[in-house]
Amino acid sequence: MAQTISFLLVLSLVTFSPLCFFGMANGASPLYPQFYDHSCPKALEIVKSVVAKAVAKEARMAASLLRLHFHDCFVKGCDASLLLDSSGTITSEKRSNPNRNSARGFEVLDAIKSALEKECPHTVSCADILALAARDSTVLTGGPSWEVPLGRRDSKGASLSGSNRNIPAPNNTFQTILTKFKLQKLDIVDLVALSGSHTIGNARCTSFRQRLYNQSGNGQPDFSLDQSYAAQLRTRCPRSGGDQNLFFLDFVSPTKFDNNYYKNILASKGLLSSDQVLFTKSEASMELVKKYAANSKLFFEQFAKSMVKMGNISPLTGSKGEIRKNCRKINT
Ligand code: HEM
Repeated sequence: MAQTISFLLVLSLVTFSPLCFFGMANGASPLYPQFYDHSCPKALEIVKSVVAKAVAKEARMAASLLRLHFHDCFVKGCDASLLLDSSGTITSEKRSNPNRNSARGFEVLDAIKSALEKECPHTVSCADILALAARDSTVLTGGPSWEVPLGRRDSKGASLSGSNRNIPAPNNTFQTILTKFKLQKLDIVDLVALSGSHTIGNARCTSFRQRLYNQSGNGQPDFSLDQSYAAQLRTRCPRSGGDQNLFFLDFVSPTKFDNNYYKNILASKGLLSSDQVLFTKSEASMELVKKYAANSKLFFEQFAKSMVKMGNISPLTGSKGEIRKNCRKINT
């Protein structure tokens, strides 16, 4: 009898404790960091080692992987829909405006997935790999760490229109960007903290050219951009041509995850219009930019919290979706 009671007690703890700690995600089963502890104990280590290798080979890869998690989560939730290639009924999200000629790092996801399939076949989802790779990329470049809630499953479809609609564009107004975050149940604090990702990585000339030549249709540059910095940018981002030329999002420390992104914004040297508007178009977000520029510890703490929140957007759990064998294709 006593044995039965203690068994039931343990069972209820095992079953319900993640629920207390991590909350329910959209009424579905909650995600929790220990999800693979028994089914694939080396999963986290394997992801980290492949990401570390890729970032050692090319520092920018950390930024590219971090961005993939964002572009995945904003479209139908964090379900690896972004990783599907076009085939049969699927039109890949890789073709959307925000992703075309821009989203990258898919080969690294393939390498992680194939290492995991060898270690524990058909167990670790591509959606969880994206969330782990985003965390590992942040840590490897000097940013904060956090425990990644796990247990997401992979979608059986993609949404090109969702990708075009939901992911903010660099020339969107502050209000439009905030609305797009709110649609994902993220708030202004999440917006300002997560934009801090632009402390690493690159942007193409085409993503900010408008600011250099014709910000509001009157042939004038964006005067919220430091004009000597603008002149420097114009040398490699001409009025026409050079669309794919690359520029550091944070010219001060482009491969280090730190709070220079916010310091640049204070100096009117945010590269994208969507970066600078955080300072110029809302009192509340301006205060947050100042706060994170002054205190990198606060930025790191909030960034970690907001990444967990973003990672919780509408995951597929339980018997929904599937565990893809290849992140680029649905199972047959
Ligand atoms: C707030 C709205 C946002 C807008 C408008 C935006 C827009 C952009 C644009 C236009 C680029 C450059 C793409 C190119 O030219 O190829 C970029 C790069 C990047 N974004 Fe964002 N972004 C936003 C938020 C975020 C968030 C929330 C994250 C991550 C949590 C993120 C992570 C990154 C990273 C790391 C890069 C560099 C990627 C690389 O070097 O491959 N961004 N973003």
